[in-house]
Amino acid sequence: MTKDDGGRDTGGRDWEQLYGNEPVESLPWFYPELDPDFQRELENRGVHQGEALDLCTGPGTQAVALAARGFTVTATDIAETALVKAGQRARQAGLHINFQQNNILDNRLETKFDFVIDRGCYHVFPAGDRKKYVRAVANLLRPGGFLLLKCFSNRQKGNLGPYRIHPEEIDEFFQPSFAVLSIKHTVFPGHKPEPKALFCVLRKRD
Ligand SMILES: C[S@@+](CC[C@H](N)C(=O)[O-])C[C@H]1O[C@@H](n2cnc3c(N)ncnc32)[C@H](O)[C@@H]1O
Repeated sequence: MTKDDGGRDTGGRDWEQLYGNEPVESLPWFYPELDPDFQRELENRGVHQGEALDLCTGPGTQAVALAARGFTVTATDIAETALVKAGQRARQAGLHINFQQNNILDNRLETKFDFVIDRGCYHVFPAGDRKKYVRAVANLLRPGGFLLLKCFSNRQKGNLGPYRIHPEEIDEFFQPSFAVLSIKHTVFPGHKPEPKALFCVLRKRD
């Protein structure tokens, strides 16, 4: 993916314009609570603190939910207006989140995190950009850190919306830098009919 300064990607979506024109609550990915797949995984692993990055935070709901649970949260997005709106959400909740505009395909963040969550980011990138994404996220994690990644799956019919991701691709693209701990078929909750999704747990190699 290449982009101009307005947050446009070569997949044809102008994210900045989208967030400028639409109330975030009307966007199909808007989900006011912590996504149940992330919640379950963190609980099962007994992870209750640490430095988290919410990659492509959009409306910021996941960042806010993590901060409310006591995590130290940084949240990034390519679209400045998304970050402004997400910042308002965090302030209303009385929570501190470090919001940063950042293009993950041209990463400028230097901090290392204990875990990164990606809810609907990887799947917006065309195949040619995904290895760049993998390298960038690996650089953002401490050794042994986790990436929790949720994306549209190959079981989702049609071609509306983001790219469909096959579990074999997760293995192939992530294996060099990550141990693939699990890949589960699930859904994106909220918007009906609920899109079919993959939920992947990956650990950065030491
Ligand atoms: C489907 S939305 C998901 C938003 C959020 N994670 C959620 O679950 O509500 C995808 C997000 O990726 C952001 N995005 C797209 N390309 C990006 C890039 N190259 N770097 C950072 N963010 C990007 C968009 O602005 C958008 O907010």
